[in-house]
Amino acid sequence: MTGRQTLLGLENISRSFDRGRIRALSGVNLALRIGESVALVGRSGSGKSCLLNIASGLDRPDEGRVLWKGLEVTGRRRWAALRHSSIGIVFQEFHLLPTLTGRQNVELALVGQSGKDIKGRVDRILGQVGLTEMADRLPGELSGGERQRVALARALVREPELLFADEPTGNLDSVNADAVASLTFDLHRQRRMALVIVTHDPSLARLCERIVTIVDGRVSDDRPGGGIA
Ligand SMILES: Nc1ncnc2c1ncn2[C@@H]1O[C@H](COP(=O)(O)OP(=O)(O)O)[C@@H](O)[C@H]1O
Ligand SMILES: [Mg+2]
Repeated sequence: MTGRQTLLGLENISRSFDRGRIRALSGVNLALRIGESVALVGRSGSGKSCLLNIASGLDRPDEGRVLWKGLEVTGRRRWAALRHSSIGIVFQEFHLLPTLTGRQNVELALVGQSGKDIKGRVDRILGQVGLTEMADRLPGELSGGERQRVALARALVREPELLFADEPTGNLDSVNADAVASLTFDLHRQRRMALVIVTHDPSLARLCERIVTIVDGRVSDDRPGGGIA
């Protein structure tokens, strides 16, 4: 693990809400290395989603810096383009567009990409998540596990270097949760894609190379997990 280049750096990140009355993050420092897997754990309300939102560029910190491969990107316009091509996100609530089929939801992630082999790329990722047969159904015609696999395909079709998954199995029964989790880790390994997964499931956290614990908006612990680099 040592020696691997830092992919995303968070330096002294703070974020508060309600004019400072709610301090969601206080001086967080975290470096994510190329290809590594990190479990982000901590109680509900500790700041995990806030941290992911800032790390993925969906939100801006009040203080601190975000660096991508050593380049400061906090609030910069180039961060929008960089994160679009380099970062995938999966949420607990799948956030699929209900009037589009599974395939169309995935295709949407490639809008604006140069036209080469869009269909082939979408077909390949749908196959990898095991949805080839179901791809032309609407989200309402899919099970929770299938919907999350569509969301995973949508996040991965641009071949990001980093995937954030915010409690991706939190809305699934245990069978589907296991299937989505093992699929996520398979893709992480196959592609050497860095993975940051927020989870309450200790067995999932142990699959990661590193377990980072957040308490009251701060990193309180950062230790190796059982995952193999
Ligand atoms: N948009 C927001 N407005 C006000 N408070 C927020 C907002 N987002 C998060 N918070 C607060 O920030 C804290 C951290 O939230 P969050 O990052 O969602 O926690 P976690 O994901 O660990 O459960 C909580 O106290 C939450 O209520
Ligand atoms: Mg959360």
